[in-house]
Amino acid sequence: MLNVTVLVSGGGTNLQAIMDAIDAGEIQNARITHVISNNPRAYALERAAKAGIQGEVLSPKSYDSRAEFNEAFLARLQEINPDLIVLAGFLVVIPEAVVKAFPYKLVNIHPSLIPSFCGTGFYGLHVHEGVLSRGVKVTGATVHFVDEGTDTGPIILQKAVYVQEGDTPEILQRRVMEEAEWKILPKAIDLIAAGKVSVDENRIVHIAGGYPSV
Ligand code: GAR
Repeated sequence: MLNVTVLVSGGGTNLQAIMDAIDAGEIQNARITHVISNNPRAYALERAAKAGIQGEVLSPKSYDSRAEFNEAFLARLQEINPDLIVLAGFLVVIPEAVVKAFPYKLVNIHPSLIPSFCGTGFYGLHVHEGVLSRGVKVTGATVHFVDEGTDTGPIILQKAVYVQEGDTPEILQRRVMEEAEWKILPKAIDLIAAGKVSVDENRIVHIAGGYPSV
C-alpha cells in the first residue's frame, strides 16, 4: 500500500479527483495519509476534512525566513516518511533538500503541455493567460516528477486539450482540469502504486504495459 501525502494551496479539485479515484477503485494500492497546505484558507483542507483526513498547515509566513520554513517542511515530511508526495496545485517552490530527500517520490501536476508555458511565473491562471495570448490551439496538462528546477523533471503523463474560440483564461482552466488534470493525475498515481513507472539513465519515464490513453 502506497502512503501518499498531498500538498495543496487552493481549491483542491485535483485532491478531490484523487480521493474520488481511490473511492472508485481507479487508483488501487494507495491511500492518502496526509494533506498539507501552505494556505490556512485553502478549500482543499475542507475537502480533506470531509473525507476524514485531518489536514495541516505549514506556511512560510509562520517562519522568520524561508530557510527556517524549508527546514521545518523537510523535517515534517521526513517524519511522515511518505512513499509518494503529490503536489496538487501546491504553489510553494519545493526546497532542493526535499527533492534530494525524496528522489522520484515527488510528482506535480502542471496545467500545460510542458515544455510550453511552464517555469517561473507560470502557475494557475497565468498559464492559461499565456496560452491565449500566444494563440496556440492545443494545450493540456502534464504530470511530472519534481527535480531541482521549475517544471523540468521527467514527464510521466500528458494529455492534450483544444483551445476554443472565445475562451477566457477561466474557461480554459476549467476545460484543462476536466479533460486532462483530473484524469492524468489519478492515473499517474495508480501507475506508480502498481510499480509500473520507471525512469531511465536519460531521465526518460517508461511505463510498463505502454503509455495509457487517458
Ligand atoms: C491546477 O490547475 C494545477 O494544475 C495548478 O494549480 C491548479 C490548482 O487547482 N498548478 C500549477 O499551476 C503548478 N504550477 P486545484 O487546487 O483545484 O487542484
